[in-house]
Amino acid sequence: MCGEPFRLFSVRTEGNGASGLPGSPCGVRIEELIRRMSPGEKLGQLTQLFSGRTREETDWSLLAAEVRSGRVGAFIWAVQDPELRNAIQREAVEHSRLGIPLLFGMDVIHGVRTVFPIGIGMACAFSPELFECAQRVAAEESLAMGLNWVFAPMCDLARDPRWGRVAESCGEDPWLSAVCNAAQVEGLQAGASGPGRIAACLKHFVGYGSVLGGRDYNEADVNMWSLRNLHLPPFLSGIRSGARTVMSSFNSLDGMPMVANHVLLHGVLRGEWGFPGFVVSDWQAVEELVAWGVAADRREAAELALRAGNDMDMLTRAYRETLEGAVNEGRIEGGLVDEAVRRVLRVKWELGLFEHPYAKTEPLELTAEKRALAKRCATESVVLLKNESVLPLSGSLKTIALIGPFADDREEMLGCWAEWGRVADVVTLADGLRRVLPQDADLRVVQGCAVTTKPKTRTLQDGSLRCEGGEAETSAPDFGGVAAAAQAADVVVLAIGEPRSWTGENGTRAALGLTGFQQALFDVVAGQGKPIVSVVFSGRPLSLPDVWRRSAAVLYAWQPGIEGGAALAELLLGVSSPSGRLSMSVLKDVGQAPMAYNHPKTGRPGQGQAREGGLGRAAFWFGHGLTYTRFVYRDLKIQPGCPTKVVATVQNTGDRAGVETVQLYVRQLSCREGVRPQQELRGIQKLALEAGQAAEVAFLLSDEVLGYWTREGRWRVDAGSYWLWIAPSACSGEPVCYEHATAPSGA
Ligand code: GLC
Repeated sequence: MCGEPFRLFSVRTEGNGASGLPGSPCGVRIEELIRRMSPGEKLGQLTQLFSGRTREETDWSLLAAEVRSGRVGAFIWAVQDPELRNAIQREAVEHSRLGIPLLFGMDVIHGVRTVFPIGIGMACAFSPELFECAQRVAAEESLAMGLNWVFAPMCDLARDPRWGRVAESCGEDPWLSAVCNAAQVEGLQAGASGPGRIAACLKHFVGYGSVLGGRDYNEADVNMWSLRNLHLPPFLSGIRSGARTVMSSFNSLDGMPMVANHVLLHGVLRGEWGFPGFVVSDWQAVEELVAWGVAADRREAAELALRAGNDMDMLTRAYRETLEGAVNEGRIEGGLVDEAVRRVLRVKWELGLFEHPYAKTEPLELTAEKRALAKRCATESVVLLKNESVLPLSGSLKTIALIGPFADDREEMLGCWAEWGRVADVVTLADGLRRVLPQDADLRVVQGCAVTTKPKTRTLQDGSLRCEGGEAETSAPDFGGVAAAAQAADVVVLAIGEPRSWTGENGTRAALGLTGFQQALFDVVAGQGKPIVSVVFSGRPLSLPDVWRRSAAVLYAWQPGIEGGAALAELLLGVSSPSGRLSMSVLKDVGQAPMAYNHPKTGRPGQGQAREGGLGRAAFWFGHGLTYTRFVYRDLKIQPGCPTKVVATVQNTGDRAGVETVQLYVRQLSCREGVRPQQELRGIQKLALEAGQAAEVAFLLSDEVLGYWTREGRWRVDAGSYWLWIAPSACSGEPVCYEHATAPSGA
């Protein structure tokens, strides 16, 4: 990133749609297949099934018969057993009438065996390059497992911390999310080496992050103005980076469930954006149209979804079992089916599956290089929220108490979407400290309590809860050992947070506090009067005002992946320095939700806040993050030119080197199209500065920086007055005013 704002809306044509053109080898092959396919075979290409994860879970005779009939186009989760995957593929390629290869898809959100920090944490690195490197590794590990389709990146905007899936997202800002999603697509689709390639899947299209009250699977209350400027850009950048597939979301929008939302699927995704890939439903979402009360039965559900632009049916078989009649009876145009089949076949062609249908599966080796990348990602994802001169910990400290349920829990470090993470690979915080503490240091590790008072459970794909063990704590544990350990220590490192099983899909919360007896644990420790460094592990920004106030320092670690403990230990001891920035604001209280830094202006600025008072601001705004040194910003000014720039000088005034993430924010003062946000991120630059060193940063004031989307989907830049900030976070520093003279331009 050279300071050029990411060209969010630059149009890229290669890699998407170039194949399949009439007369091209792909086009000729596809049309020949279409001509030969029966209606059942066509609908088979629009059907994705679950095969069971292993041979033991699979009814092989039934499965092989279905595949040989040519009535399956893709599988999900069928790669726990690579030989099973190739055996299934062989049934399709060598034993079905037309030999069309299958797609094998799976959720690879933040790594396969090399588990990186969860999305919301990765986004705190404010580094698309890092995201691309991580997804490149994920792509290669996916291929090694026999996958050729991954359901990532998750592009939803995180607007409400009560919604569990903020964990998978890139946070609350559309620009940062768009930049990171484009990089993820590049990493997933371009990174894979060898004959195989991966199809990325932008999910969940669209508006999912604004479900009512953060309640999953619900109505998303989003108007077209917000949709255009908040929720759609993170998908558009992924499309423009060549993503080959999109997944429609579980939520409804404007009263219509997204799997059957013609306005967005057909109107925007295809009509405006020209997306040439295919759209897959989410898990059983086609049949869920009946539960929504939008379809009378699964036949009507299938017709509504296909007609709206949802090409593939995940798991219900409704397309395959009902649409042939719909076509024969004229309720569905046959051309609609053919067009959906073309899109699926084109992706299979682009992935090279017709030539290379079998995976040369290899054991997933966790190399030192991958571990190093996972540790770098974890280091850059951690956000230092507060530091009253206690970090980095002094080498002279003799006794350190590491207390809390996250101190030595391997599973919790893996996070909420790590299907193939191995607990044996995880470095916990206790492990990490044991590695880096001086020989004569005395580390005492005390769990204190469980992560929650409920048995740890995971929500499975069919909605059932799988207990992951862990006894329920029904009464407060004896904290005697905790008090003694804290009392004997020079400093206490508290490892607290929320269980991973409460985050991610179906991870809605009504409160944003610590779970189980962790607050009581914190109170006991705080009562000992020793300096506390709190390290918070969660899939969302929790509201912990008491922890913020009574801790001398706070590191926000999210769900940091297999190297999380190693990264945190090195940060605590100053082997490395924190540089992470919040990708989502930390609210003071759940009652403020939903609230993001880029909230719209109002007619009464600062008024209308809750009577309880003090809730007009976040505890920590988006973009906030401290380092172990100090940076000063000065000389902010407009530099006329073509295009004009906004510049400032940043100086490291501390006594050690540091990396500063410089952010460009914009406010359009007046816009007759509608209310614009009080501030918007439109550029980032990372500056590594030695103690005392200063540098000038410059951002070009191009159309991508100043513009916005109209309700009709046109990119527009207005002449008029703007405020510009070059700052260390949102809602900080003073702006400079800029008069933009260019007449309105349409994209
Ligand atoms: C889930 C999730 C989606 C995932 C899909 C397949 O329900 O909503 O993110 O990709 O099913 O596992």
